[in-house]
Amino acid sequence: MSDSKTNNALPPDLARFVRGDILGMKGYVPGEQPQSGKVLKLNTNENPYGPSPKVLEAIREAANDERLRKYPDPMGNSFREAAAKVYGVKPTNILCGNGSDDILTILTRTFVPQGGIVSSPYPSYLLYETLAQLQGALFHRFSFAGNGWELPERWEGPKPNLICLANPNSPSGTQVGSLAMADFVRLVRVPVVFDEAYADFAPENAIGLVKEQHTLPAPVIVSRTLSKSYSLAGIRFGFALADETLIEEMVKVKDSYNCDAVALAAATAAIGDQAYFESIKAKIIATRQAAIPKLDRLGFSVIPSHANFLWCDHVTHDPTTLFQGLREANILVRLIHYPAWRSGLRISIGTDAEMDHLFDVMTKLV
Ligand SMILES: Cc1ncc(COP(=O)(O)O)c(C=O)c1O
Repeated sequence: MSDSKTNNALPPDLARFVRGDILGMKGYVPGEQPQSGKVLKLNTNENPYGPSPKVLEAIREAANDERLRKYPDPMGNSFREAAAKVYGVKPTNILCGNGSDDILTILTRTFVPQGGIVSSPYPSYLLYETLAQLQGALFHRFSFAGNGWELPERWEGPKPNLICLANPNSPSGTQVGSLAMADFVRLVRVPVVFDEAYADFAPENAIGLVKEQHTLPAPVIVSRTLSKSYSLAGIRFGFALADETLIEEMVKVKDSYNCDAVALAAATAAIGDQAYFESIKAKIIATRQAAIPKLDRLGFSVIPSHANFLWCDHVTHDPTTLFQGLREANILVRLIHYPAWRSGLRISIGTDAEMDHLFDVMTKLV
């Protein structure tokens, strides 16, 4: 992977105090986050539209002496109640997290013992492997099946303690349908987290499976984020949906106050404004669909996506050269090298005007 780091600077007299497996691991490196300058940022799948005006109002209201002085509600009940109405579940089916990465950490710690196994298809979200390493667990990759992006119909690998399935997947943007998700849980018979960071842009999700947990042979957990479809990547808020008995176990694992008062107020307002959410979601999906034939015409091969990004590589041009060319024009996309698969560009969907600018620059580059 291009996104990795090692610490060569740690002197041996300090290194001897650090866990050997931590010293030995590379660590996950998130996408680049320039904090200033005029950059068109299409590299980490943020939403090009701002959050609902109700979110800003809620943040202003939450930022008062009393709220900041006290600890927040450890369970985030205001959010749980609002989200339960949206998803047709009980508040006790929901666990709040400091971003969905926090939810994934909690799940790994809940289900995977030291020396256990975390499994995920390849290529997919790279954090799963890091979480396995942090837990002192093994990481097992399996291949997508069918035309390239289906789930396997036979399980030939070791028996994992947790399977992480990004659905829609990153970087492909492809989605596995709900029948295939249910079949997969029945096949593997181990806990499966459907990481639905991008499911709001897709036709299907696994929430129905959570509601039917009693019919399934192993736990199903859905992980969601407000970073993408709700425009709140800067706030850090995610949540899990699962059977309430599983949520109770996960509560034991989480930090007591894993979501702060301002984030909770913002997230509650965001999930409560479904009209705004639907309007920006529809715009992003329309822009995504319009972008595919345009990239096609420029000679890119694009995988049809159900997320707010597109994975593409060019028939003749090297992705690294294209990435550099875009960067020189102040456009940041994500260049990812997947060993034994391929390298390509993952491009987040911006506004129509931002995408037009991207296509203008790309036309010159190819
Ligand atoms: C598949 C997937 N899961 C989870 C996340 C994490 O999202 P959050 O911002 O909620 O931590 C991302 C972020 O890019 C992602 O791509």
